[in-house]
Amino acid sequence: MSDIETLKQENRIFNPPAEFVKNATISGMEAYKAMCAEAERDYEGFWARHARENLEWHKPFTKTLDESNAPFYKWFEDGQLNVSYNCLDRNLKNGNADRTAIIFEADDGKVANVTYAQLHERVCRFANGLKSLGIKKGDRVIVYMPMSVEGVVAMQACARIGATHSVVFGGFSAKSLQERIIDAGAVAVITADEQVRGGKHLPLKAIVDEALGMGGCEVIKNVIVYQRTNANVGMVAGRDLKMQDVLANQSATCEPEWVDAEHPLFILYTSGSTGKPKGVQHSSGGYLLWAMLTMKWTFDIKPTDIFWCTADIGWVTGHTYIAYGPLAVGATQVVFEGVPTYPNAGRFWDMIQKHKTTIFYTAPTAIRSLIKAADADANVHPSKYDLSSLRLLGTVGEPINPEAWMWYYRNIGRENCPIVDTFWQTETGGHMITPLPGATPMVPGSCTLPLPGIMAAVVDETGNDLPNGQGGILVVKRPWPSMIRTIWGDPERFKKSYFPEEFGGKLYLAGDGSVRNKDTGNFTITGRIDDVLNVSGHRMGTMEIESALVANQIVAEAAVVGKPDETTGESICAFVVLKRARPTGDEAKQIAKELRDWVAKEIGPIAKPKEIRFGDNLPKTRSGKIMRRLLRVLAKGEEITQDVSTLENPAILEQLKQAQ
Ligand code: WT7
Repeated sequence: MSDIETLKQENRIFNPPAEFVKNATISGMEAYKAMCAEAERDYEGFWARHARENLEWHKPFTKTLDESNAPFYKWFEDGQLNVSYNCLDRNLKNGNADRTAIIFEADDGKVANVTYAQLHERVCRFANGLKSLGIKKGDRVIVYMPMSVEGVVAMQACARIGATHSVVFGGFSAKSLQERIIDAGAVAVITADEQVRGGKHLPLKAIVDEALGMGGCEVIKNVIVYQRTNANVGMVAGRDLKMQDVLANQSATCEPEWVDAEHPLFILYTSGSTGKPKGVQHSSGGYLLWAMLTMKWTFDIKPTDIFWCTADIGWVTGHTYIAYGPLAVGATQVVFEGVPTYPNAGRFWDMIQKHKTTIFYTAPTAIRSLIKAADADANVHPSKYDLSSLRLLGTVGEPINPEAWMWYYRNIGRENCPIVDTFWQTETGGHMITPLPGATPMVPGSCTLPLPGIMAAVVDETGNDLPNGQGGILVVKRPWPSMIRTIWGDPERFKKSYFPEEFGGKLYLAGDGSVRNKDTGNFTITGRIDDVLNVSGHRMGTMEIESALVANQIVAEAAVVGKPDETTGESICAFVVLKRARPTGDEAKQIAKELRDWVAKEIGPIAKPKEIRFGDNLPKTRSGKIMRRLLRVLAKGEEITQDVSTLENPAILEQLKQAQ
C-alpha cells in the first residue's frame, strides 16, 4: 500500500484532553463551527472585526477588502500602522515591559534573557542606526544572519523604519545570496562574522563578500556585521560596519514609520517550478493580523506559556512564529541557535526541561531523526527528561507519517498534549489547515480542518468541487489577509503560478494535492503536484537543481526527481548525462562527489543530490521531452510497469536502473 493509501485509511481518532478544552481560547467544535459560520455569513465583517480587535492602528481602516484588481487583493488598504510598534511598544504600554520576550540559548548552551523593554530599546537603537546610514521606507535590506536575538532585532528594526527585509537562510551559498540581492535590489546586507551550529563555524561574512564580488550588487551601500564570534573578518572601508558601531550613540527610542496596511513588510524567496526562486511579497497589516490570530487560535497562547518554535528565521515559519507572531501577542519564547543533535540528540528534550517549555513546534524530519537517535541510544531517549511542562505540540513543513505522529504523541506529549499538524506555505503567511488544540479531534497524518475564515477546498483540473473521498487539487476559494500579494518584480508570474486562468483566475492554487475524509471532511495533503521537492521540510525546485547541474561545464543534461526517504521525507536523485563518456565505478563516485559539491556552491548544501546516476542519455519521448515519471520509478528502485511506448530510447532505462 502506498503512503497516501495508508494515510487515507488512517482512522484512529484522538480527542483533545478535557482539561485543555476547558481552558482553550477556542473551546470545543461548536465554538469552531460558530466562527466558521460567522466568516461564511459576513466574510468582510469577520475579518474587519478581528483586525480592529487585534491590531493597533495609527489610522483606522474604512475599507476591508478590495477585490477590484483580483488577484491583487488589498486588505485594510486605507489603514496605517507599524508592525514593530504592534510587536514592541504595545507590550510596553500593556504592562509587559519587564516580561521576558526571548530566552536565547546559544549553541554552547549559554542562555541570555531579553525583556520586552530591552528588545524595544535594541530595535529602536538599530532602527536609528539604519536611518543614519540613509536607509529609508521602501528600501530593501537583506538579512543573512544566524539564529540570534540580533537577527530578530534586524527584522524588527527594518519593520520599524518601513524598510522591506528579505531574510536569506544562512545555509544558502554566495551565488544564491547574490541572486536574491540583485532580484530584490537591496541597499544593505545585515550579517554576522560567523554562524555557529553544532560546534561548527560557518563564515557568513566571507560568503557575503564572495556574493558581492560576483558583480551586479553595486546597489549595496553597506554591510552591517554582528560580531557573533569575533572572528577576524575583512572589512571594506566605507562599506562595512560593525553592528555595535551602528548602534552606538543612537537614541533608545525611535518614532515608528507609519505605513499603509499593504506596505511590503518582507520578501521571502522560495522555490517554484522554474529555475528561478520567487520573491514572495507579504503585506504589513493582513500579515500581522494572521500571525496574531494563529498564535491565539492554533497555539492557544496564554501569558503563562513558554513558546518554542525550532524553525530558522530564514524560513517563513521563523518569520511568523518567531520574529512577529509571538512578540505581537506578548509571549515569552525560546530562540535557539544550534541544532537538535548537538552536543547530543537529547538537546531538544533537555531544552524543554530546562526552559519549562509549554508549547513546542518543530518539523516531522526532526522528530523522525530523533526517534532513530533515541532508539540507538537510551541516554537521549525523551523518557530520560522531565517534559511535564509541555501542554501543546505542533508540526510544520511536510506531511507527518502516522508512526512519527504516534511517537511524538506518546513520548513527547505523554498522551496528554494535543498535536497541531499545521499545513501552510511561504505564500500563505500563516497556518491554513490545522487542528484547533481545544476543539478538533485529531487523526495522525491529517492536518484536519481549515481555520475559521479560510475557504479551502479540493477541486478537479477544471476547478470544480470534488466530493469528499476523491483526491484532487487543493485550493483556497476566497482571499485571506495574510496571503502573498505578488511575486516581487513579476506580477505575471504571480498570476500564472497561483491564480491560473484554467481555474477561472479566482482560486488560489496551493500547488499541493489533497483528499478529504468521507465522514469527517478532514484534509490530508497528498504532496506537491508541481516540480517542487520537500527535503527535510526544505522546499526546492527540481528545475533549480537541474540548472545548477548543467551550469557545470562537464554536464550535458540533467533531470532531478524526488525519492521517498524515511528520515528526510523526500531525497534528491539526479540523472546526469556528461559531455564525455559515461563514467563507471570509482570514477563515477568521484565525479558524483564533485557534482554534489558543485550544487552546494551553486545553491547551498541543502540542495545536494543524495544520489547521482550517470547515463548515455535520459529517457525521452520522440519529441524530446524527458519522461520524469519513469525516472521517479527508477529512483525508487521499482520495476517499470507503465506504458513506455512513447519512449524513443527504451534501452536507456536498463542502463539507468543499473547505474546505482
Ligand atoms: C509546502 C510549503 C509551512 C511553512 C514551512 C514550509 C508542505 C507544509 C505541511 C503539513 C503536509 C505540508 C506542502 C506545502 N507542507 N506543511 N502540515 N502537511 N505538507 O513552507 O517551504 O513554503 O513549503 O510544504 O507541500 O505546499 P514552504
